Amino acid sequence: MIRVAVYDKDPRIAALLLEVLRRDRESEPLGAASSIDDVRRALSVHPGSVGVFGPSVGSDELAVASELSRTSPGSSFVQVVDELDAETIRASMRHGIRDVVAIPDVEREFAPAVHRAHEMATAVAASSARPERNAHGRVVTVFSTKGGTGRSTVATNLAALQAKAGTSTLLLDASRRFGDCASLLRLRPDHTLSDLVGVTSLDDTIMQAVATPHESGLTLFAAPNDPLEGSALSADLLSSVIKRLRELYQLIVIDTNSSLDDFTNAALGSADLALMVTSLDLPAIKDAKLCLSMLDRVGVASERVRVVLNRANSDVGFPSAEVAKAIGHPVAHGLPSDVAVPRAINDGVPVVWHSPKSKIAKALSKLGEDTRHDLALAPLKVEKRALFLRPARAKATI
Ligand SMILES: Nc1ncnc2c1ncn2[C@@H]1O[C@H](COP(=O)(O)OP(=O)(O)OP(=O)(O)O)[C@@H](O)[C@H]1O
Ligand SMILES: [Mg+2]
Repeated sequence: MIRVAVYDKDPRIAALLLEVLRRDRESEPLGAASSIDDVRRALSVHPGSVGVFGPSVGSDELAVASELSRTSPGSSFVQVVDELDAETIRASMRHGIRDVVAIPDVEREFAPAVHRAHEMATAVAASSARPERNAHGRVVTVFSTKGGTGRSTVATNLAALQAKAGTSTLLLDASRRFGDCASLLRLRPDHTLSDLVGVTSLDDTIMQAVATPHESGLTLFAAPNDPLEGSALSADLLSSVIKRLRELYQLIVIDTNSSLDDFTNAALGSADLALMVTSLDLPAIKDAKLCLSMLDRVGVASERVRVVLNRANSDVGFPSAEVAKAIGHPVAHGLPSDVAVPRAINDGVPVVWHSPKSKIAKALSKLGEDTRHDLALAPLKVEKRALFLRPARAKATI
């Protein structure tokens, strides 16, 4: 049961919200709080509860949400407002409030918002409460010079494998626009990287608010939902976010887009290991060679680069044995072309779960093992059977 404390200065609104919660089978209303201190007390006595703030609660009082998110991990907050607008949502999020519902939608959306807030806070608290929390997290950046080479496939599967193995893992979709990680994992994030624009301090509250948990155990920092918002994201902000994430997670896997702009360079510059995904066609090989020579200049030494040849069994184009010679760098991983990949993408499930016996799943698992070795992380501990349990089919999000 989810314990919920409701606070609004107007007793009729508090009564309405409590009434909706009483009809909800998963909620256990703790009652109407008469002051913000009452909320503070209720959530301290019942850690992991949900605090609900009604429309009359002022922004100074909302600050209690950020305080309690810090001092009482697992607590979460929902705000009910007269009218929804982008500025209200953004302001709420900065206070660490998970969900905002407008009064006219209370009957339909309030209880689900309480469930979501509770679920997310619990998952994020669990992932950040692991003992390695303050370890110096490692960063793996997956990149390529061309679109469609398989970066997002590699990044999502790599992150899901590591998370499932018990490593606290964050997948960062470092695309200013049209990032795919959320849809590859069938997630629909309420908050994304663009919510960090203009934030002065990347404290735990704001970092948790942007985090979207996935059933594998990984946490996603999604690319902006609105492509127009992406232009406000700066490379400096990305570098600061990565630096902060290193303090919170053991492993940060970064998916990039194909333009080698300042944003991608920031993701590469932070990398302990860079996975360059390429294919067997001549233009891709030529670009890969140019790119390898450029990496040195953004501070990624060649020993930290691993070339991943995707669709390595393709019988058209450049023979794979020639690739290493042509680019002047060894090929660390070959991934076969496999129809299981588009099938898994269409179902929104990482292919290592979706089709565990496929050649591509085996090759990606090997890539996962080698990456752990390269980063000096302990070998994967989970049994194959547990690792590849197919998750319950999530509901469609597109
Ligand atoms: N090994 C593979 N076998 C079969 N299909 C693949 C393989 N790898 C990737 N694909 C297909 O190629 C397409 C692009 O893959 P993915 O989205 O991972 O690439 P990307 O480099 O992230 O692309 P984008 O430029 O859109 O970000 C997808 O439709 C996917 O199904
Ligand atoms: Mg992609």
